[in-house]
Amino acid sequence: PLVSMRQLLDHAAENGYGLPAFNVNNLEQIQAIMEAAAETNSPVIMQGSAGARKYAGEPYLRHLIEAAIETHPDIPIVMHQDHGASPAICIQSMRSGFSSVMMDGSLQEDAKTPASFEYNARVSKHVVDIAHAIGVSVEGELGCLGSLETGMGEKEDGHGAEGALSHDQLLTDPNEAAEFVKATGVDALAIAIGTSHGAYKFTRPPTGAVLRIDRIKEIHARIPNTHLVMHGSSSVPQDWLKIINQYGGTMGETYGVPVEEIVEGIKHGVRKINIDTDLRMASTGAIRKYLAENTKDFDPRKYFAAARKAMKEICVARYTAFGCAGQA
Ligand code: G3H
Ligand code: 13P
Ligand code: NA
Ligand code: ZN
Repeated sequence: PLVSMRQLLDHAAENGYGLPAFNVNNLEQIQAIMEAAAETNSPVIMQGSAGARKYAGEPYLRHLIEAAIETHPDIPIVMHQDHGASPAICIQSMRSGFSSVMMDGSLQEDAKTPASFEYNARVSKHVVDIAHAIGVSVEGELGCLGSLETGMGEKEDGHGAEGALSHDQLLTDPNEAAEFVKATGVDALAIAIGTSHGAYKFTRPPTGAVLRIDRIKEIHARIPNTHLVMHGSSSVPQDWLKIINQYGGTMGETYGVPVEEIVEGIKHGVRKINIDTDLRMASTGAIRKYLAENTKDFDPRKYFAAARKAMKEICVARYTAFGCAGQA
């Protein structure tokens, strides 16, 4: 069934596990996530970004997720709108049936320029008032997450806490987090703790901690009843990176957030873990490999099936590592 995010994250907090929130854009991604969830008996969060809404169109996205709900009536599923840039966008999603929305007021409506705390608190509270009246959950964001759009916080050197300290001011401030939650009543809060969006997070293999676990602990202590969300949580699988480049790709050397560190974050209050890049890489690698090895094939179902299988394996691995398996 379709459930709110609050329901799933409350259960995750009570039982000490984390939920991967996978970005979705097409049929095969949604099927991959659902096959993995069915196999591991995991609850599901699927989210559509602004880019996904532009690519697929909101009705297609929504109906594909509804098809997943119909196909798997026993699995709880959240339909979440990722990174809403304005209350209007969030209200549109609620109206069309999303059970959870993210009001990203950390940036202004252009989704580029950093916004003031006051602006962020005001628009987030506005969305919470409407959403809670109809049982929809709200995720807010506070702090400067590295993003592809702004380039902020990107290309951290991967040498752990020392490296991350250099942009300490970009991290979420625990006192501000407490003030923000009090002012808005958000169900979940995306925090900046050393991650950034996209494939190019760290230029060197992580040798120490890339996540600021100390900061996660401080924030969790201040807002124990608000679920912490980690964006930019892809691990950038090195095996898929190799396959992509082996079969004609030219991706640069890059590293993501080690799964063990995410697991450590979950121990300290992280409940929702946003993953997009990892499924993109698995999909691209599998398609490049399939087409290179099967040069006579021209039926798209063949290479889409290869992509689906590759994505499913990543989903199974994350559901299992995050303790989500068996919790549906
Ligand atoms: O929020 C970031 C996600 O990776 C979505 O990216 O806007 O290209 O779909 P996108
Ligand atoms: P990645 O780019 O690390 O997969 O993060 C996705 C994300 O945070 C979507 O909101
Ligand atoms: Na989100
Ligand atoms: Zn994000």
